[in-house]
Amino acid sequence: MSGGRIPILLDVDTGVDDAMAIALALRLDAVELVGVTTVAGNVTLEHTTENTRRVLAWLGAPEIPVARGMSRPLVRPLRTAAWVHGDTGLGGFAPPPSPVPLSPVTAPEFMVRTARERPGEVVFVCVGPLTNLAVALGLEPDLPRLVRRVVIMGGAFTVPGNVTPAAEFNVYVDPESAAAVARSALPITFIGLDVTHQVALLRTEWERLGAATDPAARLVRGVGQHSFARRGIDQMHLHDPLAVAVAACPNLVRTRATGVAIDTGLGARAGETMLVERPGLPTHDVALEVDAAAFGTLFRSALRLEVVAG
Ligand code: BDR
Ligand code: CA
Repeated sequence: MSGGRIPILLDVDTGVDDAMAIALALRLDAVELVGVTTVAGNVTLEHTTENTRRVLAWLGAPEIPVARGMSRPLVRPLRTAAWVHGDTGLGGFAPPPSPVPLSPVTAPEFMVRTARERPGEVVFVCVGPLTNLAVALGLEPDLPRLVRRVVIMGGAFTVPGNVTPAAEFNVYVDPESAAAVARSALPITFIGLDVTHQVALLRTEWERLGAATDPAARLVRGVGQHSFARRGIDQMHLHDPLAVAVAACPNLVRTRATGVAIDTGLGARAGETMLVERPGLPTHDVALEVDAAAFGTLFRSALRLEVVAG
């Protein structure tokens, strides 16, 4: 650990809320962001990687390594969510290109290398489809012993999904990877829709950010354009930022230790995440309650949203 900070590797499919998660990871004093890996999901890998690099540069951190990952799910064709995140994924926000080149290694290699270099120290925060993590597990079967924890934004355990009535987007896109990860001995905390649907940025707050000067607050204003101005929604859920916050402050959520099973079939329940107690199935922590007020304070203060929105 560096200066008592928690080393975090962030795996993203940037994406509007992924961009805010990157900003939060950079802004939290308790976090040392050691690298960002990219995966196809909300938009294509080309866009998620370019968006990630641009967001880091916009926030004054172009030197954070970015490793490009898997361009499609393990088995299924890629399904994106451009209707939520805009055509290129940043909701209409267009920061300038990064001057810093990509990492020469792939995302799964970067994950394995980082875990090996600092055994037992690094927390992986995975907020896209789990393809990179599944491949990393294949490359390094000892990964469960090498990471400190894996915080995953994914699943809908006791609530309906957001793509189908059964499935949450990240798991729906690559259920085979999610199932491989859930079957593993990785020490996982799942942050699903059960808790992320309780934390949101409101349209009224976003409207006031027109006067923002801080780069993180301007980023929030920029990435909100598609959702608030074009789609006309009233609130934007802060899925991925909550996962980053929990990596830094685990007490923000109350979890249940349980096995997790995932529907990898071709039917209507594909991508469903289920709480199951079965002998031999590894146990993970599934978040079922969140201190939404404490998270809101932490998020708004870190991204300097309250100065103009208060
Ligand atoms: C998840 O799906 C993506 O669209 C978001 O970035 C988030 O990671 C929420 O279901
Ligand atoms: Ca995401």
